[in-house]
Amino acid sequence: MNRNAKTVVLGSDHAGYELKMTISDWLKGKGWDVCDVGAPSTERADYPIYGKAAAEIVQSGQCRLGVLICGTGVGIGLAANKIRGIRCAVCSEPFTAKLARQHNDANMLGLGARVVGPGLALMIVEEFLNADFEGGRHKIRVDMITQIEEENRNGTPPSSGARRSAAD
Ligand code: RB5
Repeated sequence: MNRNAKTVVLGSDHAGYELKMTISDWLKGKGWDVCDVGAPSTERADYPIYGKAAAEIVQSGQCRLGVLICGTGVGIGLAANKIRGIRCAVCSEPFTAKLARQHNDANMLGLGARVVGPGLALMIVEEFLNADFEGGRHKIRVDMITQIEEENRNGTPPSSGARRSAAD
């Protein structure tokens, strides 16, 4: 396994700071390298900045996977999902986190520090990091998601059968 595959990027806002540090310590204890681009303290900070910074590290290939934490995981996850190639899944239990890797090839996990306690958060992170994408039929669907992203890159998505005209 190359070094990038063993490095997890972490991002958080102020609400996620303490859980981010708990996850960071736990990851290091398990032999992972950590790249922390999250807020440096519990002083108020804007989650889009940190979601974008962490997502760009995954996009660049410097890290294969990332974990993002804010109050709910939603805001920071939404920001990350605006970065091309990022599939961030916000999870509040381990089963979804595992399936997000196996079926959806999620490359970032979103956690809500105001939603899950540290014990549950670590179980979610562990399932996420230890699961692998299964490919096969799932790859066809993930490729379809990528296709949607590509079609919308310039802000002018091509017409699709699913969309109705204003006159409909
Ligand atoms: C910060 O108060 C909070 O809004 C933020 O951490 C996050 O929960 C947003 O989605």
